[in-house]
Amino acid sequence: TTSAPDHTGHGAAAGGAPAAAGTRVAAQFTQCMPVPQQLTPTRRSDGTDVYRIPIKTAQFAFTPGKPTPVRTFGGTFVGPTIRAKTGTPVEVTFTNQLDVTSNVHLHGGHNASADDGYPMDLIAPGASRTYHYPNKQQGATLWYHDHSHGAEAENVYKGLHGFYIIDDPAEAALNLPSGQYDVPIMIRDAQIDANGTLVWPSSVPDRTTVLVNGVAAPYFQVAARKYRFRLLNTGNERGFRLTLGGLPMVQIGSDGGLLPAPVTRSDITFTSGERVDIVIDFSRQAIGSKFVLSDVSGPVLRFDVTRTAADTSRVPATLRALPALGTPTVERNVTMRFDDSGNVGLVNDLPYDPNRVDFQVKRGATEIWNVTNTDTVWGAPHTFHLHLEQFRVLSRDGAAPTPDDAGRKDTVLVMPGETVRVQATFTDYLGKYPFHCHFLDHSSIGMMAQMEIVP
Ligand code: C2O
Ligand code: CU
Repeated sequence: TTSAPDHTGHGAAAGGAPAAAGTRVAAQFTQCMPVPQQLTPTRRSDGTDVYRIPIKTAQFAFTPGKPTPVRTFGGTFVGPTIRAKTGTPVEVTFTNQLDVTSNVHLHGGHNASADDGYPMDLIAPGASRTYHYPNKQQGATLWYHDHSHGAEAENVYKGLHGFYIIDDPAEAALNLPSGQYDVPIMIRDAQIDANGTLVWPSSVPDRTTVLVNGVAAPYFQVAARKYRFRLLNTGNERGFRLTLGGLPMVQIGSDGGLLPAPVTRSDITFTSGERVDIVIDFSRQAIGSKFVLSDVSGPVLRFDVTRTAADTSRVPATLRALPALGTPTVERNVTMRFDDSGNVGLVNDLPYDPNRVDFQVKRGATEIWNVTNTDTVWGAPHTFHLHLEQFRVLSRDGAAPTPDDAGRKDTVLVMPGETVRVQATFTDYLGKYPFHCHFLDHSSIGMMAQMEIVP
């Protein structure tokens, strides 16, 4: 059985809203931030990139010298990065070497229902499964993670998460920082005890360690030039409000790819499941200077400028226009809250039932969904994540979307009492897909529903 964290401690300040947390356990800036390893296809056949990834336990030392068991894709706490190209299909065979069931969802992916990692569509211990990703979508920072019904919170917390980045020619032509200057950064929280153990079950106030690519408060040595950083929040129910002392963060993308134009941000809030793509220009900074990326809870990562390097990359004033918004023909309401016990998550007042279809959506339809956090009893923040399609935020409580809502989105924060109005077009695939709170502690106790796309 799955041990769900204690939900009774939720207040508006706990969980999703960025908030000051307790004292950090680990020392700061003593370890270097690793960059997740990029996977090489085992073969290329018929224009398809083929990969094999075992799902297995491994030992990982969050505290140097004190290894603790984790669940991994491929043996590393942050799974290997898959680098795909628009229009080139990818096939990944995952072999489950755990003693529990698992499965894999490509978050932000536009894929057939059978390849979506449907919560009941599991890989038994010892079994393998091949997922097919056609990559008929634009460049974007996606990620893959476990989505086993009721167990996704535990599995992702224990390490079943990795990057899946799609590159496309139009984006490459912009000449943004690339290669070693295009760096994926996974940020999440965890509870690490004095023995170095990754503690589970764990509730929000105890998750005081912020891991950056698996390392607490690391440093990262950079050259005095521009870098692209793809920030991904994989915390189970965690928001970060990031600032970078002294240097502007230029946001170029969000969940579903590039923004129409770069936006200079002094602080960025992102919650579980969201991605923020930024460029930081260190070119005018002296060798030896240091810049700390901080959350309201404390330092996250220090950039140390250690060398010079040539830089022919640019951040053009125009990046990529957003697709035209279709004409909506259907409007629906989605509510998210806990029941009065605090132990069951509800969408439209019901816990997830895989045998129930909550919304039937016509293929081709453009719809507006009004997503409301109705959690008056617990006052907990929630997030809304839609599978299959990217949406656009039309408004937040009737007002204009915030800079954190910009671009093509698949996950947004919804604070208690708030209504976020989103619009999506369901272009092609048929079948059942979930939508849910992306605080996995909440989805795994029921805060999930499903749509079925029908002809
Ligand atoms: Cu990132 Cu349904 O999940
Ligand atoms: Cu929630």
